Amino acid sequence: MIRLDNVSWRRGKKESGPVLAHLSFAVPQGGFRWLLGPSGAGKSSLLSLLHLENLPTDGQMTILGKTVAQDEKRAALVRLRHRIGMVHQDYQLMPDLSVADNVALPLRLQNRPEDEIQDEVHAILKWVGLGERVDVPATRLSGGEQQRTAIARAIIHRPGLVLADEPTNALEESQACRLLDMFAELSAMGTTVIVATHNESLVRRLERPFLFLERGRLVEEGDAQA
Ligand SMILES: Nc1ncnc2c1ncn2[C@@H]1O[C@H](COP(=O)(O)OP(=O)(O)O)[C@@H](O)[C@H]1O
Ligand SMILES: [Mg+2]
Repeated sequence: MIRLDNVSWRRGKKESGPVLAHLSFAVPQGGFRWLLGPSGAGKSSLLSLLHLENLPTDGQMTILGKTVAQDEKRAALVRLRHRIGMVHQDYQLMPDLSVADNVALPLRLQNRPEDEIQDEVHAILKWVGLGERVDVPATRLSGGEQQRTAIARAIIHRPGLVLADEPTNALEESQACRLLDMFAELSAMGTTVIVATHNESLVRRLERPFLFLERGRLVEEGDAQA
């Protein structure tokens, strides 16, 4: 379960206004939410809070059932973050590592046996259409290939929460649709999924509730079917 109660966040100094102000919403385990709103509204900032890269300046945040304290120990945050899969807008791949080694990272952090890791990595890379690119260093990939690598890395360890920041902007439409099916499937299997996007045709294709941000505030929390 994800729950925010009156959460605000400012970047650094008090003089700068809050980037996110008084956000309250909840997403049940297995829920799917679109995160919508104009550029600069705070979508990426909200995802950075949910991914525990930043902590709320005010208010209370519960991630995967755990309420995160203002002074939460780093080790506890890291442990919790390992249960979250994040697709950053700029992918954040390790440039010198191969596609396979990038995708294997979450499993290596879990100390899974290497033969198991290899099997799972190859299966997921085949699924995202990168079966022929496993040994290529991340720097040599096209934008779409990097994005698919980042997606594979975000879901390979079956996290309880998947966050994705504009995860289809480098994908062709057919790939974007497959990704959407996968997100819907993950959510049906009990993973909470939150996807920030500008892509309206995508949102129309998968009718799910949404969170709409404007200037750091939640102005609409809607039911896409309405
Ligand atoms: N690295 C940064 N340093 C300072 N301000 C930033 C930075 N990144 C984003 N901002 C500002 O924070 C606000 C929220 O941005 P962001 O969360 O990136 O919105 P969105 O993802 O909806 O486009 C905007 O006013 C943006 O200009
Ligand atoms: Mg953004």
